[in-house]
Amino acid sequence: MEIKQGIRRNFARRAASYDRHAAVQRFMAQELLRRADEAAAGAGRILEIGCGTGYLTEQLRRTNPQALVVALDLDPVLVQRARERLGLDPKVAWVVADAEAWGGRGAFDLVIANATFQWLTQPEAALAACYQSLKPGGTLAFSSLGPRTFQELGVSLATAAGSLGMAAAPAIPAQSFLDPEAWTRLLNQAGFGQIDLLRKQLTVSFPSVVQFLKDLQATGATNPRPRPFSPRLLRAFTAIYKSMYGSNGSIPATYEIIWAAAQKPQHEVALAGCRLPEYVKGHPQEFKQKFISLKKTLTLINFCCNFADLGGLFNVQPLN
Ligand SMILES: C[S@@+](CC[C@H](N)C(=O)[O-])C[C@H]1O[C@@H](n2cnc3c(N)ncnc32)[C@H](O)[C@@H]1O
Repeated sequence: MEIKQGIRRNFARRAASYDRHAAVQRFMAQELLRRADEAAAGAGRILEIGCGTGYLTEQLRRTNPQALVVALDLDPVLVQRARERLGLDPKVAWVVADAEAWGGRGAFDLVIANATFQWLTQPEAALAACYQSLKPGGTLAFSSLGPRTFQELGVSLATAAGSLGMAAAPAIPAQSFLDPEAWTRLLNQAGFGQIDLLRKQLTVSFPSVVQFLKDLQATGATNPRPRPFSPRLLRAFTAIYKSMYGSNGSIPATYEIIWAAAQKPQHEVALAGCRLPEYVKGHPQEFKQKFISLKKTLTLINFCCNFADLGGLFNVQPLN
């Protein structure tokens, strides 16, 4: 099964139980909103990616009742759920779309996504669409989970698989989530500046390993390519998890949470992609000197552009 379909199916199936079990996602949303408070309060148009059952959408409406909000999710069941949560609201437009495939449009002041970007299969495409959707100077703010999430689960599974003589332990999705360094690199590549990232580990206690797994299942945050464990592996790994990490009748599960904010630059000067006129090709040395002084001038002007809106003066032709 295609991985995207698996993600979509997992969340859609758990739309009814999600809110009862999504305490960590709510915590992520509250902190995300706190960190993006200024951008959210001042925005005229907000795009929310991965709205799910609408928890953050509702918070955004409270934070800034004047803003127009476009709330987008991969699955119609979730969009419907969010719609019911907010009721009839002329300030919210609902969209069923894949954030990695919709291309990005709309001149938004803020693009925001809570607990969603760890599920992206092509983060470059999603970030390019976010960039495309933002006005110059607009903000992208998101929270995600990092690869150390559920580290106890990963270690217990590997130990159990080893003890049973299995060639390899079953992989868990969290192990391939992106870390802060990867997000920084991708945000830079997409053209974003002023990147601000925060990473925190949050440990949640559960009464048992089975209860932890049930909780995960109830939020839809399970493997998009399900490979059910054999009863032997399940028994071995739950026992190992409990003996390695359990204490006082509970077991811990660690979430590695990443909050990120980045800006689309107010002014873009794309020298690297300039089309070289024929004259320049015939006079390389002369051009080199002129290029260096032009670059210095543009750097100075670009610096000044932070203080005055001179962006329209630039008309640099990008390469096709
Ligand atoms: C963990 S839920 C978070 C929902 C909500 N933001 C919240 O905080 O409660 C992740 C959501 O992202 C959506 N999602 C995952 N991949 C997506 C994609 N490529 N495009 C749009 N939505 C996506 C899922 O359908 C799901 O509703």
